[in-house]
Parts: sequence; structure tokens; C-alpha cells
Amino acid sequence: MRNSIGLTFTCLIFFVINCFSQQSSNNNKASRAAWWKEAVVYQLYPRSFKDSDGDGVGDLKGIISKLDYLKSLGVDAVWLNPIFSSPNDDNGYDISDYRNIMKEFGTMKDFDELLAGLHKRKIKLILDMVLNHSSDEHEWFKQAKSSRTNPYRNYYHWWPEEKGKPTPRYSFFDVNNDAWKYDATTKSYYLHYFSQKQPDLNWENEKLRNEVYDMMKFWLDKGIDGLRMDAFQYASKDTTWKKYPEGYEKEIIKYYGMGPNLHQYLKEMNKTVISKYNVMTVAEGAGSTLEDAHALVDEDRHELNMAYHFEIMDIGNDPRGYKLTDLKKAFTRWDYSFADKGWLAIFLSNHDVPRMVSKYGNDSLQFRSYSSKLLTTLIMTMRGTPFYFNGDELGMSNIKFNNIDDYRDIATINAYKSIKAKGEDVQTFMDKQKFISRDNTRTPFQWDASPNAGFTTGKPWININPNYKTVNVVTEEKNPSSELSYFKKIVALRKSMPVLVYGDYKVFDIENPDIYCYTRTDGKDKVLVLLNFSTKAFTYTIDKQINTTAAKLLINNYNGVTALTNNKISLKPWQSVVFKINQP
Ligand code: GLC
Repeated sequence: MRNSIGLTFTCLIFFVINCFSQQSSNNNKASRAAWWKEAVVYQLYPRSFKDSDGDGVGDLKGIISKLDYLKSLGVDAVWLNPIFSSPNDDNGYDISDYRNIMKEFGTMKDFDELLAGLHKRKIKLILDMVLNHSSDEHEWFKQAKSSRTNPYRNYYHWWPEEKGKPTPRYSFFDVNNDAWKYDATTKSYYLHYFSQKQPDLNWENEKLRNEVYDMMKFWLDKGIDGLRMDAFQYASKDTTWKKYPEGYEKEIIKYYGMGPNLHQYLKEMNKTVISKYNVMTVAEGAGSTLEDAHALVDEDRHELNMAYHFEIMDIGNDPRGYKLTDLKKAFTRWDYSFADKGWLAIFLSNHDVPRMVSKYGNDSLQFRSYSSKLLTTLIMTMRGTPFYFNGDELGMSNIKFNNIDDYRDIATINAYKSIKAKGEDVQTFMDKQKFISRDNTRTPFQWDASPNAGFTTGKPWININPNYKTVNVVTEEKNPSSELSYFKKIVALRKSMPVLVYGDYKVFDIENPDIYCYTRTDGKDKVLVLLNFSTKAFTYTIDKQINTTAAKLLINNYNGVTALTNNKISLKPWQSVVFKINQP
């Protein structure tokens, strides 16, 4: 009797504690809820999305004509790559006027119409802020290089020739990887971490900073909903220009990222601009450690709100393949570190890397579609805000150009020149570009099977992937089993299940080389995700900690029923399944 009272009492205490801790963790989560955590972001590359005037280049009117397509996807926000005035040395990442629209893309009137059209459809707009550098055709730079005493001189970094040769600095895009370019007018070198036409802005100059903040307000006051801070981790420089050790460029983020005053500037930017709006602010590049990333985005830091780190992107750059265990460990390390503080962006592709299906999946005829849906499943079921690159919803794959003349990207073209000049192996370089060149994701969007994939009536600025005859919107909209139909389904699923947004992530069987198995748990809701990253079919035994007795299939990238009995499931090549399951 005594025992049973004792037991009841213990159970009651346990129940109360459990309820309390569940409630407090739910409260904690509720208080941390934000629209930008719940949003599915669709990255739209304007140059290649839709051309409205036949000049071969996508434009804002083109996007406007496809707003209903964007709505049909079910996404919540669109991130546009830079649309500001630019001579396009680096496809818009070299801005010559931050308050105007690139001529090829249209006018400010078009922009206003686009923003209104998106908002009418309840889709938010994120703009790309390129603030580490401007174009050398920006008025600030033209002024700055006109004389050493020009008031704009300190908007950039200069090294006067009388000081001798500048301390070496590595440039990502320069043919000689030299980040200092000599300017004869003022007998000085200027700094450019990227191309010679992308001089780095001097963030140490308060006047420049205030001018940038005003410009940011200009766009935010128009009603945009977020900012992606391009390469901002490099903005603050150590202006003592100390010498870096031999080989530092191999760990470039360690040397260029998180400069001495970066956090001070971000706090100032937050106080002056960001805190006045309810916006998404994305740190592109998040330093070289988890601590760096936390310092950029943790709530109590008052800087930015989402880390877009590169650790996943750094896996899979070898055409011979990658280890799934590396991918799982990277996702897991980041998720566990961000479980209670900060927030991450989740992505497998963007305009700087290859197509996700060619890199992490299998783009053969047999498996392209399945593996592409599997990768979509991964993105849509992880904790963090999905950033989904346009065209991936169709299963678009790498174009794999054979000829250097087909490439348009300054990164590939200048690296080619550099390889040639050094007499290195050009063929090996060209083979690798088929796998990693940024142009693989920049080819035109495939709307239909008509000439030029319905992208333009003119000559496209870059070749169209020949697979457009079958991989296109019109064909896929008609097919309920297409990548596109799958994408819409899984976006809707994510939107209907808060556990997929906020739920805790737990990985199982992490050393398994073929299967990615994880759960997401939020209060009483629990979801199991199984991804077969291999071309093998086999029966997989699910960890016995996972209770699958009442498992309910939520989504499957194969047609037909998938049987799950006694924690065993037979999986087909590149199969992905998501179940709602019981708590253990
Ligand atoms: C970012 C952009 C990339 C660009 C670079 C320089 O990494 O994503 O496309 O080339 O910054 O602005």
C-alpha cells in the first residue's frame, strides 16, 4: 500500500515535472518563434529566370510575369541575387549604384511593381546587399581615385607607392590572385579581395558606414523583408596590414573573416537600421568556427539573425565523390550547436556552387529524379530556414561545358587564364569545372520544351542545358510524380507541421555510409526521416530507440506503399521517406 502510494506520488511528481519542462521548452520555443524561421526561401537568380524583352538576359518584368508560378510553389520568401546598377563584372556583385536598378533588369518602377506583386501573393522579398566592395564604376570609387585628397578617398583601402610594395593579399578572382591593383593617377594600390573591378569598401570610415546605413533604410522603407549580407564577414580589415604566414590563403576565412571591428559595425548597423524593422538578416559566410557563427547571429548579440555557413558546401567538391558520413557529421555538428541559440540557413545549392543533384545526388538518367527529390527532402526536414535554389525544384543538373568559351563566370575564366599562364594542366582544370563551376547553376530556368526553354526569344546570355526538353515546368506540372510536384508537396508538408521547423533534431546510425536517419521532435510530435544516399536497394533496420509501431507515412519519393514492420524497412535506390511516429 505504502509502496503504491509512493509510486503514485513519484509518478505524479514526474508528470508535473515533465509537463512543466515540456511547457517551459514549448514556451521557450514559442517566444523564439519568428517568421523568418518558419519561411521557405526560394533563391531566384534574376539573370537566368525569365527574359521579357528578348535581349537574352532575365529581368524584373520577366519575374513579374511568373509571380503566379512562385505562388504555386508555396514558398514564403524570394531572395533575389543583386539587381542594382552594375557593369556585371561579377554578375551584379559589383554595384555601381546601390539606389538604382541594373539597366538590363529594368527600372525602379518595375521593382516597385515586383515588390507589390510578391506582397499581394503573401511572398516576402529578400535583397542581396553587397557591402564588402562596390564596383570600380561606382561614383565613390571614381571620386576616390581622382586624387589623394578627394573626400571619397577613404571610402576605399589604398597603399601609396612610396611605402613600397604592399603586404601581399590574396584575391579570389584575380588572374594573379593579387588583391592589390596599381592605380597610376594617384600612384597607389587599391585593395580588391574579389576582381579588380570590385574594390573593397573601407568600413573603418564612419562616413561610408553612415552612407551605407542610409541606403539600407532606403530599401527597407520601400518594404523589403530581408537582407542577405554578401561576403560581409570580410568587411572589417586589419589595417596594420601585417604579413600572413606562408599558405594562409588555404585558410582564407580564418585570415579574412571576422576582422577586428566586424562585430562593432554589425552592432552599429543593427542599432541604426536593422532593429527598426522586422526583417530576416542573413550572414553569408559565418567565420571559420561554430563560435564565429554564434557571435554573428545569437539573439543576445543584436547583430544578424541567421548564419549561412559553408561547411556543407565544402564537402563534395571532389568529382570522385564524398562520404555521406562527412555530410551527416557536418549537419549534426551545426544543428546540435545551434539547438538552443542562434539560427541556421539550410541549403545544398546556390549561384556559387554546382547543382545539388550533380554534387550530392546522382544526375544519371536513372537516378536524377529520385536523388533530386531525396535532397529536397533533406533540405525541407532539417531544422533551420530552407534556402532553395531556383531550378532545383525541377531537378536541374550541371550543364558541364566542354569549352572555356561557353563559360561566363569571372571565377572560372580568370582561373583558366591563371592555369594557362602557369603552364599547369588545363584539361584537368576543365574537367573539374564541369563539376564545380558556378555557371552550372546559372544556366537559364527551364520553363518549357520550346526553343530556349521558354526563357528568352533572343540569344540567351549563357547556354541552356539540353535536358530542358524533358526537365521543364510545363512537363513537370502535368506529372504528379515529377520533381516539381514533389517539391510543392513537401513545402506544404513543412508548412503544416511546426515540428519540421522547430523540432529537435536527433541523428541515428551516424557511421552508416548509405543511410541518413534522423528524427525531429517537438512536444508530442515526432517525425522520422530516412534517406538512402546510395544506388543500392536493401532492408534497413531502424534503431530500436525509435518507436515505429504506429508510423504513418507522410511523404515518399517513390510511388507505392512502403512497408515498415518491426523497425525494418526496405528502401530502394535514393529512396527518401518521412514518417510521423510515436514518442518512444
Ligand atoms: C558572394 C557571392 C558571390 C560573389 C562574391 C563577391 O560570395 O555569393 O557570387 O562573387 O560574394 O561579391
